[in-house]
Order: sequence, then C-alpha cells, then structure tokens
Amino acid sequence: MNRKPIFAANWKMNKGPSETEDFARALLPHVQHQTFPCDLVIAPPFVSLAKASELFGNVTAVALAAQNCSEYDSGAYTGEVSAVMLKEFYVHYVILGHSERRSIYGETDDVINAKMLKAREFKLKPIFCIGETLAEREGGQLEEVLRRQVTKGLAGFTEKDLQETVIAYEPVWAIGTGVTASAEQAQEAHAFVRSLVAEAFGGEPAAKIRIQYGGSVKPANAAELMACPDIDGALIGGAALEASSFLQIIENGT
Ligand code: G3H
Repeated sequence: MNRKPIFAANWKMNKGPSETEDFARALLPHVQHQTFPCDLVIAPPFVSLAKASELFGNVTAVALAAQNCSEYDSGAYTGEVSAVMLKEFYVHYVILGHSERRSIYGETDDVINAKMLKAREFKLKPIFCIGETLAEREGGQLEEVLRRQVTKGLAGFTEKDLQETVIAYEPVWAIGTGVTASAEQAQEAHAFVRSLVAEAFGGEPAAKIRIQYGGSVKPANAAELMACPDIDGALIGGAALEASSFLQIIENGT
C-alpha cells in the first residue's frame, strides 16, 4: 500500500505570533511553489493560528493543525476553543490525545473520544496520539495500553472518519527526552496499531491509514525510522521549532 507520509511540527507552547512570523519567513522560500512527496503540517499555539493562517493560507504544500479542541460546541467553558471556531482559520487538522494532554491535564480516553467525534463533526482531521509510558512498556502492558487507546479513541468512527484520521504513535518515554525508540521497537508498535485498526475496521482501511512516529525525531534518526514499512511520517516537537531542522527531517525521511 502506497501511503503518502505526513510530517507535522507540533510547536506545543512555543512561538507567539511574532516568532510564528520569523519561522514562516525562514520556511516559506522552501515550500512556496514547491511540491513534496509528503504532507507538511504545522501546529502552532491557538494564539498564533491567525498569523499562521495569514502566512501559510495560500501555500498549498503546508496545512495547519490546532493542538487541541473542545468536546463542546460553545458555552461556559473558560479557556476552551471549539472545533467550529478553528474552522474560521486555515486549519485542517487537530492534534488530539497527546500524552501531555493525557498526563498533565487528565484527559481520559472518553474525553479524547468525545473530542475526536466533535472534530469530525466539523470536518477537522484528527492527528490521534497514542503511546505507552516506560512503566507500562517495562510492565509488559504495551499491547494492552495501545489496544485500549485505539479502541476507545476511535469508538463511533465510521470508515470515512478513519480515512480522514492520522494516528501518531508516540512512546511517552521518547517524548522530549532525546531517547528515540529504535526502528525495530517503533515498527513493531506501528504494525500492532495497524492490526488493531484492521480488527476494528477491516484490512483495507487499516492498510490505508497513516501512522506517524513521534518522540525525539531529529534529522539524524529520521531516515532509519521512516524506512520502516509501517511508519508514515513523524510528529515532531523540539526538532521542528527551527525551520531548517524541520526541513532536514523531511528531506532525510522521504
Ligand atoms: O508532538 C510531538 C511529540 O510529543 C514529540 O516531541 O520531538 O520533542 O520528542 P519531541
């Protein structure tokens, strides 16, 4: 199955509008009027989406993602941003279920599922993050955790929803630590996640869905990870804060 890789820069809580502009000035000469063998996505903080939309809105090679959205439409939810609000920007994707949302903000599988369904209601494409902690891996719970996250997170999804979804496998112990999963560990987990999707939706949707790897991806390890048959791109944090490093990962990984 020929899947187009997808490389996404998750800036997390970095870069307000002025730094977004600096990044765009560095990236634009390399992406304007260019075609890539992969999809490129940038996920700025909410407050930078207007600036990013202004700068990338006419650049076909680059799409924008939000880093979260509410499971509700509107109302008394202080500090939240709804999917319908995001539609006013040049936003096509939304990152959901990131381990930082799960561990720091207590998002459960059920909350994440509600957000996934809300995102699809408003035609946003989820970048659905899953992954085990080190204790879970060392305790032999890797498959159990991934099975629970995939089953609950994708509950209520149709095959059409799945076609518009990207899964990001991010072992929590590899996020921001400089420790990357080996290509073998990553491939094994990706193949397992694909098998879970096949169990739930069938072989063809499973063969089509893109599964990104995330966790300390950098230019030096991109080629080896991306050569794995079930790895279809990367969700990149720290190494995507500089345009040059983001581009180098894409070049090495495609
Ligand atoms: O969303 C991105 C991931 O959490 C990976 O972050 O590349 O800084 O390890 P990292």
